[in-house]
Amino acid sequence: MKPMIVTGNWKMNTLPQQGASLAASLAGDARVADAIGRGVDVILCPPYTGIAGALAAIGDSGMKIGAQNCHHEPSGAYTGEISALMLEAIGCGAVIVGHSERRRDQHETNDVVARKLKAVLDAGMLPIACVGETLSEREAGIMADVITRQISALITGAGAAAIRSSIIAYEPVWAIGTGLAATPGQAQEVHDRIRTLLVSNGCDTAILYGGSVTSENAAELFACPDINGALVGGASLKADVFATIVAAAARECGGTA
Ligand code: PGA
Repeated sequence: MKPMIVTGNWKMNTLPQQGASLAASLAGDARVADAIGRGVDVILCPPYTGIAGALAAIGDSGMKIGAQNCHHEPSGAYTGEISALMLEAIGCGAVIVGHSERRRDQHETNDVVARKLKAVLDAGMLPIACVGETLSEREAGIMADVITRQISALITGAGAAAIRSSIIAYEPVWAIGTGLAATPGQAQEVHDRIRTLLVSNGCDTAILYGGSVTSENAAELFACPDINGALVGGASLKADVFATIVAAAARECGGTA
């Protein structure tokens, strides 16, 4: 039995009404209800504009709603930004920080990601902090160095206690949106490294895998000892597929519904 969490990262997809329907379908799905009854945490992360609608749609299903990003300051002159406090105030329970698409497009550094993580926690929500190597880093044989640097920067920047209260998501950049998921062996190898680093710093916590997770490969990934669930992008946009992934997590979670 291990903690299992399945998070849907909708990215910049779904108009508010579409997001609300997707959330409502999941709220009405018996597989999702069963998984939650067995202890699986299910978190949906719509774009900001879909948060209110998704919150209304999930009702008392037990799912949680998260955001995909936030600013590291609580308020101030940051045009276009949204703070963790604002997200908490409208009912969010979690925030993804440091997704590789933001590290790439918005040039988010390890330092900024650590500050965001702390801001999310200080606002009373669960941070889901992403790490992962690019294809060229893997091919250059520096995957372990990159992962160690990213995790160490989070621990140094936010503190071990903060990491212990967060979730880490390992998302190899080459596997995101490519259909080329890491094999269970590849994923477990990195999760084991991350686990060792967390344990040696006194901040062990759940580690999710992300990158082309589907209803076909979820079960074998979830069976790996150090994989505590998934951060799911494309496959989280289809209720039936996402519910199948959630059901696969429930089988690892044990527990009785
Ligand atoms: P994907 O995205 O499942 O579409 O590969 C995962 C992610 O970026 O979180």
